[in-house]
Amino acid sequence: MNETAAPARRHPPRVFSGVQPTGNLHLGNYLGAVREFVRLQDKNLDGVEFEHRFYCVVDLHAYTVLQDPEALRTGIRELTAAFLACGLDAKKSIIFNQSQVAEHAELAWIFNCVARIGWVNRMTQFKEKAGKNRENASVGLYAYPVLQAADILAYRATHVPIGEDQKQHLELSRDIAQKFNHDFGAEDFFPQPEPLIRSEAARVMSLRDGSKKMSKSEPSDMSRINLKDDADTIAQKIRKAKTDPEPLPDAADGLEERPEARNLVAIYAALSDGTVDDVLTQYAGKPFSEFKPALAELAIEKLAPIASELRRLADDPNYIDQVLADGAERAAAIAGPVLRDTYDLMGLLRTRS
Ligand code: TYM
Repeated sequence: MNETAAPARRHPPRVFSGVQPTGNLHLGNYLGAVREFVRLQDKNLDGVEFEHRFYCVVDLHAYTVLQDPEALRTGIRELTAAFLACGLDAKKSIIFNQSQVAEHAELAWIFNCVARIGWVNRMTQFKEKAGKNRENASVGLYAYPVLQAADILAYRATHVPIGEDQKQHLELSRDIAQKFNHDFGAEDFFPQPEPLIRSEAARVMSLRDGSKKMSKSEPSDMSRINLKDDADTIAQKIRKAKTDPEPLPDAADGLEERPEARNLVAIYAALSDGTVDDVLTQYAGKPFSEFKPALAELAIEKLAPIASELRRLADDPNYIDQVLADGAERAAAIAGPVLRDTYDLMGLLRTRS
């Protein structure tokens, strides 16, 4: 413990977020997260001017379950390409993969010693992912949200755009930051990162079951729209999406007991940059036979340019590797000094330059 408390610091606003490179990016990832990354790249938020934006391919998180090395290598490049195809610009944002910046793993160990078992035990995502066979889950899967805290705090990031499902993990990051600061008497050494969750698209649900979130791990591909899907596939998935026989209501509360209808309306709202009420004003009383083709047309209009850019980038792995190498260098230049200060504060000697 330090004898003298370090002075409080003001943290420059920085954005950090991560996505796992396991399988295709889907509409939930896009609307809940990546589209927001792009927006934050070009605009400042309520007068907050961001100093840096970090968008990370979290390949070490992927290893919380066993990966096929070749498939993972491809997945890392594909996700990087998807970031670019969605509109991230490697000059404006720092795009990189987690394993190329060793500070993430180093800080994660420190945070493993700060986080309490009781806190991690509350994480619902671990319970869902480990399922019944919890004893057989990897220690990494259990410690997953601690590595997530390290990702964010290695850059002293202050704002984290995420979907609703990551909210609890972000609360854990805040608890870890607070306990670290308290344990080492360094008020505000790490900031308390804030979640940025966009309400219309915070939780995009499966097209087959409105009670489950759209997910990469769902066996049926019909349950999600992938960014790689071509126009016919998108139209077919929307045509076959589960609905109910009622026409659309004229207000949002009419969707309360209708999870599949609510999901399709929310997707339309998010894709058209409107609200659920805007969509209902336009489609009140209309049957799904009319709404679904309109939704398909909108989805294709918004997603087709991304799919074609993805195909173009798939032919250029050297460019992708260059983006990642450059991003890792810029990221490490910021995380390195944070780790050095952290070690220093903790009494860990780092004599190697
Ligand atoms: P991941 O890879 O599961 O998802 C990436 C992002 O997509 C959002 N998302 C959704 N949003 C709306 N509807 C859905 N159906 C949906 N499915 C996924 C997620 O909320 C997420 O924002 N643990 C994280 C990755 C991570 C991270 C971080 C995020 C690692 N370190 C640091 C933020 C900051 C994850 O597995 O996301």
